[in-house]
Amino acid sequence: MDQSKRPHPVTTWCESHNVDFRTMNDTIDPALAKEASEYAERLDQLGRARLAGLPVSRGQRGIRVGGPALYELLYFLVRHLRPTAAVETGVAAGWSSRAILDAMHANNHGRLVSIDLPFSRLERMADKPHLTDDQVGIMVDEHLRDRWTLLLGSDQEHLPEALRLVGGEVDFFHYDSDKEYEGRERTMAAVEPALSRDATVVFDDIRDNSHFADYVRQTGKQFAVVGMKEGLVGPLGRVDPAADHGVPWPPVRKGRIRGHRSAS
Ligand SMILES: C[S@@+](CC[C@H](N)C(=O)[O-])C[C@H]1O[C@@H](n2cnc3c(N)ncnc32)[C@H](O)[C@@H]1O
Repeated sequence: MDQSKRPHPVTTWCESHNVDFRTMNDTIDPALAKEASEYAERLDQLGRARLAGLPVSRGQRGIRVGGPALYELLYFLVRHLRPTAAVETGVAAGWSSRAILDAMHANNHGRLVSIDLPFSRLERMADKPHLTDDQVGIMVDEHLRDRWTLLLGSDQEHLPEALRLVGGEVDFFHYDSDKEYEGRERTMAAVEPALSRDATVVFDDIRDNSHFADYVRQTGKQFAVVGMKEGLVGPLGRVDPAADHGVPWPPVRKGRIRGHRSAS
């Protein structure tokens, strides 16, 4: 086969571990899976209306930056796991923040600290249309904000403060900010010591480079690769082992995947 047409090793690895997240949710808790799916439909409609005309993905046509995370999965996991303290990096319009906070509101439990380096501070966005700083998190309604702290600046700058605000222990961590290998590595090095024993971590865009595959190999954590169509998300940690729920969790793969450390 022509080498250039071969799928990237990271894509092959992700495909070989991919499970359908709706099947996974349904196996864990069918009633909650249905609730999450109906919730996602409502959020989709609300978001399209709220963002109409704004320079962000799902707002203006042709704009792809600030695309939403897999909010149906986030809502399901937060409802199911009932974390006390959640931290996330990467907010933009705030689909993921909204889903985590709506789930916490339904749980009547938990708080979220989110960090976002606004587009206005990213060099690559200087001459492109982007959300203004006060539009960061525009998806999050007032009644959800008493559980929420939003810190504007980089992960590096604000992680110590975020960890302090949740009392030094994180039960749920969502990563959707800097997509480079080194950025993910740096952030996880800071977050890792604060993860509670049963913490769940969700990485977005895991196909960008081999960070996720390397991370699961190094930590030996249980994981899944989900959302092939949506751009690939990797939840890991305490998302209920196969022994409990019959979920087709793939075993942690030994051995390094060949190739890339940088974003493709
Ligand atoms: C894909 S968007 C986040 C989408 C969001 N999770 C959602 O579901 O709507 C990525 C965001 O991360 C921000 N970002 C990029 N690099 C960052 C960094 N080093 N620290 C914090 N945020 C960063 C970007 O400016 C952007 O707002």
